[in-house]
Amino acid sequence: MTEALRARYGFLPFAPPEGSEALRPLLDRRVTRRFTAQEVPDGLLRMVVAGAQSAPSKSDLQQYSIIAIRGHATRARIAQAIGTMPWIAEAPVLLLFCGDLRRNRLVGARAGLPNANDSVDSFINATADAALALGFAVMAAEALGLGSCPVSYVRNHLDLVRDLCALPAGVFPLAGLALGWPAARNEVSARLPPEVVLHAERHADADPAAIAAYDARRPPAKPRYPEVHGAAPGGCRWSENVARQLSVPERPGTRDWLAGHGIALG
Ligand SMILES: Cc1cc2nc3c(=O)[nH]c(=O)nc-3n(C[C@H](O)[C@H](O)[C@H](O)COP(=O)(O)O)c2cc1C
Repeated sequence: MTEALRARYGFLPFAPPEGSEALRPLLDRRVTRRFTAQEVPDGLLRMVVAGAQSAPSKSDLQQYSIIAIRGHATRARIAQAIGTMPWIAEAPVLLLFCGDLRRNRLVGARAGLPNANDSVDSFINATADAALALGFAVMAAEALGLGSCPVSYVRNHLDLVRDLCALPAGVFPLAGLALGWPAARNEVSARLPPEVVLHAERHADADPAAIAAYDARRPPAKPRYPEVHGAAPGGCRWSENVARQLSVPERPGTRDWLAGHGIALG
């Protein structure tokens, strides 16, 4: 457990207390981006979904849907549109996690009651539900020996994904989850130190020295947006890549797409 904690942070921030051994699989999790060709049996897929559905849900509204995309042609089409993530087609399954405001709109309509919650708050609730379901699916997959990688890039191709998966108004993609048997395991990616993320009673900005120390613990990574900010042949530290990434607007059309798809953000 000490080793798992050290790997999670890149240093040992505290000694794990007695009885924390059960958290080892959680601390040891990492994304999988290389998959074998072996299928995921239906029974295991159903167990992953049962794990996902074990997540808490805001007011028990369960405002999400999961589309299991097994068909190679659909996964290949999405992978081709994205261009940089061929493993989406190589994994035997792509689960599409969607916020789903439609199901309960229909429930309400059948009950003859108006829906007074077409709002940004509902959008956040559905997004939180779908994100929690995705997180639980990730851990369910790991527990079964499967590997997975979330894919926010499905939102770079909202019309395509909407059409391929027949997403009706009120159902929006949050992220894909490529799922399959790992052909290789990534290294554990060290996280920000606990004192940067955990605040006592009141929010506090991170000490820049703590961020610099974190940068030094992380290996240099592929530079983000080299076409905008230059090549950086030695790679980029975490905070440099954060700054690079946030300097370019990501998916600026999302709000308009949602508005045209039955999701008001008022
Ligand atoms: C919501 C979400 C969307 C993500 N989208 C992508 C993606 O589109 N492509 C990708 O390669 N990884 C994606 N990831 C994986 C992250 O890059 C990965 O979790 C992060 O680099 C940390 O690595 P680790 O999960 O192994 O600790 C996503 C993760 C999350 C939570």
